[in-house]
Amino acid sequence: KKGAYPYYMLKEIDEQPGVMRTLIQEYFNEDGSVKIDQELLDALSKADRLYIVAAGTSYHAGLVGKELFEKLVHIPTEIHVASEFAYNPPLLSEKPFFIFLTQSGETADSRQVLTQVNEWGYPSLTITNVANSTLSREATYTLLLHAGPEIAVASTKAYTAQIALEAILVKAYGEAKDIKAAKDFDVAVELTKVANGMQELVDEKGDIEKVAQDMFATTRNAFYIGRGVDYALAQEAALKLKEVSYVQTEGFASGELKHGTIALIEEGTPVVAIITDPKTAAHTRSNAQEVIARGANVLFISSRDVAAEGDQIILPEVDPLLSPLVSVVPTQLLAYYVSLQRGYDVDKPRNLAKSVTVE
Ligand code: M6R
Repeated sequence: KKGAYPYYMLKEIDEQPGVMRTLIQEYFNEDGSVKIDQELLDALSKADRLYIVAAGTSYHAGLVGKELFEKLVHIPTEIHVASEFAYNPPLLSEKPFFIFLTQSGETADSRQVLTQVNEWGYPSLTITNVANSTLSREATYTLLLHAGPEIAVASTKAYTAQIALEAILVKAYGEAKDIKAAKDFDVAVELTKVANGMQELVDEKGDIEKVAQDMFATTRNAFYIGRGVDYALAQEAALKLKEVSYVQTEGFASGELKHGTIALIEEGTPVVAIITDPKTAAHTRSNAQEVIARGANVLFISSRDVAAEGDQIILPEVDPLLSPLVSVVPTQLLAYYVSLQRGYDVDKPRNLAKSVTVE
């Protein structure tokens, strides 16, 4: 039930702090250890490379998962768009392990890859929001997102639940393998910080509603730019804005824009710069200056520790690898308000279905 909410999308954005807390309850024991099936951890530990396979928003959650697996537990991780993998599989390592990320557990492109993986005889894990979904039944292992039903076509809380669960899995894997970086990474504490940070952001949604009005009222195109996990987030933010508001939006690696696409920047083109990583903050800011010099209207979304004077949206500080969990919130709200202000049916954008069960 959407209750007092005009649209499910807004309700589901607001539910995200609660989803983080549910995941902590579901996946942590009283003593702080992670509650994940030992058999799954053993199978993961034997792998020499992970292959994450997904579509749409779940693919974008996989981009962040790759960073978590490689940076914290040093296991090479590839991320693949399911529909591409199906007909053009990459060269596999000797001991691959497959992770399917899928809110619905029914996405045809991902199912097709899992069928192939099962024929090859490789182990797999489905991370899904729907128990007993096809991808859950057909994979070797399943982890549930516990995000509650996601009704709006635009995925929001499933994205943040997927990233949080990837972090929990990385922690369990790191503990099992005795990896220091993972042992020092207190995921339960970090996810609690995330939940509080998300709450601050949803409580200030009026700021985003105003930005939507001021910067996006009539625009036909827009850009998100960022580096590292901020680039991963930029891609998700762009998908969200385009699918519900029909504003043509691209998520770009900050440094890549000048290699061609900057030609599209005109007087007043909205560009959203996501800046959370201290290592690259100065570089992204200088890319933002390049577009400002060509007339772009830049919205800066930055974490408190790297914020500069004049940045419009300041994000609460969380672990840098988990920053998409908070930086996504204003971008979800922006997509919501731009769609609402244009008078569209936010929950049911044209041409789209909640789950894509045909190839
Ligand atoms: O159910 P899945 O996570 O497998 O769905 C994948 C995509 O179809 C889905 O994320 C889609 O991109 C959403 N409309 C994004 O908001």
